[in-house]
Amino acid sequence: MTVLLIGGTGILGTAMRATSPQGVTVTAPGHAGLDVTDASAVEAAVAASRPTWILNAAAYTAVDAAESHEADAMRLNADAPAHIGAAARRHGARVLHVSTDYVFGGVGTRPWREDDPVAPLSVYGRTKLEGERRLQASGAEAVIVRTAWLYGETGKSFPRTMWERATQGLASRVVADQHGAPTNARDLAQWCWALVARDARGVVHASNAGQCTWADVAERVYAAAGKPGLVTRVTSEEYLVPAPRPRYSVLDGTRLESLLGAPRRAWEPALDEFLADLKRRSAA
Ligand SMILES: NC(=O)c1ccc[n+]([C@@H]2O[C@H](COP(=O)([O-])OP(=O)(O)OC[C@H]3O[C@@H](n4cnc5c(N)ncnc54)[C@H](OP(=O)(O)O)[C@@H]3O)[C@@H](O)[C@H]2O)c1
Repeated sequence: MTVLLIGGTGILGTAMRATSPQGVTVTAPGHAGLDVTDASAVEAAVAASRPTWILNAAAYTAVDAAESHEADAMRLNADAPAHIGAAARRHGARVLHVSTDYVFGGVGTRPWREDDPVAPLSVYGRTKLEGERRLQASGAEAVIVRTAWLYGETGKSFPRTMWERATQGLASRVVADQHGAPTNARDLAQWCWALVARDARGVVHASNAGQCTWADVAERVYAAAGKPGLVTRVTSEEYLVPAPRPRYSVLDGTRLESLLGAPRRAWEPALDEFLADLKRRSAA
């Protein structure tokens, strides 16, 4: 099976490359090799590589910057999935596209299911939702994987920032009234490969299991760094950022688990494994 991986240098893309199963040939041209916002470049790349699957891990992920760069976010988060869908449809490729928990509005009391009503609060969330819709409208065979609070061995992520601050002995004020679940990119990558192997369609929610707040994550990171007590729990009103975030964006993993035939790891051991890796690397 041949796969065209777009966004192969990002947090998820790196994990996808690291976990690609045997028998799968992955072509990952990188941003310089393929600008996914360029429809004719996408068409040419798909025509040349004739992939069985196109995996789209590219996105405009700077949630706060998107508030003042809506056109850029729209090009990458909404136009690009449409280009991918059109090329996939023309060449008979299937698409795995990644989306976000931020398509939800955040007033919820139970984990969001795939068919729950969406109501994005931010430019990032709105552009990602538009991308889902445009891909679906393209008529391509597609699975849309909504994930949340992603971190991994490359790139900028909340656990990594907290780790860096903790190891420097810096205190952090962290929001304690937004509920979600962090996701280890390696777990997500393996689920994505499993969804490809199972030829999944539709929308699938995919985060590590359980739920917590950003402050819970930060406290676990600081404890792992041997620096407990440096996290102050604050409210969203006390920590103002440009983009509004949902108060509740826990994703229901029932569909994913039934497709996988196995439970997901809880967020705590998944985060602990990542932190142990960081610790090993900083000791080396
Ligand atoms: N990070 C999170 O917390 C989070 C949460 C929920 C959902 N998600 C979703 O998960 C998916 C993966 O996110 P991520 O955090 O792994 O993203 P990321 O680390 O920000 O990586 C984005 C990737 O897209 C590439 N890219 C950017 N512009 C491009 C263009 N015009 N053409 C081709 N490639 C381009 C980047 O390459 P360069 O760096 O070379 O530009 C990079 O490889 C995205 O769909 C995102 O919306 C992420």
